[in-house]
Amino acid sequence: MTHKLLLLPGDGIGPEIVGQTERVLQTLVRTHGLNVETESALIGGAAYEADGDPLPPSTQALAKASDAILFGAVGGPKWDGIERDLRPERGLLRIRAALDLFANLRPASLVPELASASSLRPELVAGLDIMIVRELTGGIYFGQPRERAEHRAFNTMVYRRDEIERIARRAFEIARLRDGRLCSVDKANVLEVSEFWRDTVTAVAQDYPDVELSHMYVDNAAMQLVRAPKQFDVIVTGNLFGDILSDIAAMLTGSIGMLPSASLNEQSRGLYEPVHGSAPDIAGQDKANPLATMLSLAMLLRYSLNEIAMADAVETAVAEVLAGGLRTADLQTGGGPSVGTVAMGDAVIRALESRAD
Ligand code: IPM
Ligand code: MG
Repeated sequence: MTHKLLLLPGDGIGPEIVGQTERVLQTLVRTHGLNVETESALIGGAAYEADGDPLPPSTQALAKASDAILFGAVGGPKWDGIERDLRPERGLLRIRAALDLFANLRPASLVPELASASSLRPELVAGLDIMIVRELTGGIYFGQPRERAEHRAFNTMVYRRDEIERIARRAFEIARLRDGRLCSVDKANVLEVSEFWRDTVTAVAQDYPDVELSHMYVDNAAMQLVRAPKQFDVIVTGNLFGDILSDIAAMLTGSIGMLPSASLNEQSRGLYEPVHGSAPDIAGQDKANPLATMLSLAMLLRYSLNEIAMADAVETAVAEVLAGGLRTADLQTGGGPSVGTVAMGDAVIRALESRAD
């Protein structure tokens, strides 16, 4: 079967990191017999420049027709001044909503070779393996009404029972395949919406007696993540809290430049993207780390295309390259030599090819 893939490079470093990952994809076609048809389209600031819309109808149509999407990053200071609904970020938010990608999986696991790049002491992060399950199409990001007036502004944090139930179920199922522990993060001591979240997750837990459920307030969770991160297995949380906690978790692993993510709908069709942003400060300079995007491709192969062996091959190739000592600048803590985006791409491709013969 031919898989239909859509590449959405976006802005900033997006085209560079997706470009290198596309080379990895073409290597899999050659060496592993991957059967894909790829198309590219504009999103974010690049689409706004071309069409005046951060998610043009043509991009949305291609997205709906594809089996999976590989996304780079969107945004940059260039578009800071424009109307909120036309900003690059809105393109990403709209595609998440249009495809109903409610389940955002953000694994944060430590590559042993990178322990020294973590902001925490090695013994606190050795063996770290957390999965953050972030609700992605509801909460304060999408709640109505929202308004920006001259002297006040507001957003609405709202969750319906069915929205909480489906993300909770997804999280319990993931926990079941891991260490069987799920921590639900909220702000139930202050917010009604969080109290409702907590009650709903607790009710869903009845169906998963084999998973140990705990609850934590988000401020405490932020602290615990930097104090003793290994206490966590799976974390489930709402859209805004998940956005923040996943950046914290990312840094524990050494670099946000390493972390992939998957955003899935009910059918596990998905959009895959690095957790990091468009890094406009280093865009176009061959400095960006393409590994988070390559690991996102591995998640794509695993979750949407069911090409498990190829997913493993990409992850192994990345691990080999790191074990060999190659570092992009973001991973280089000791001021040692670093390589650029293209050289990192070359190395991963070589590692994949050497395994294939
Ligand atoms: C992320 C990003 C996005 C978000 C932005 C770019 C809209 O920070 O994917 O974490 O807040 O969801
Ligand atoms: Mg974020």
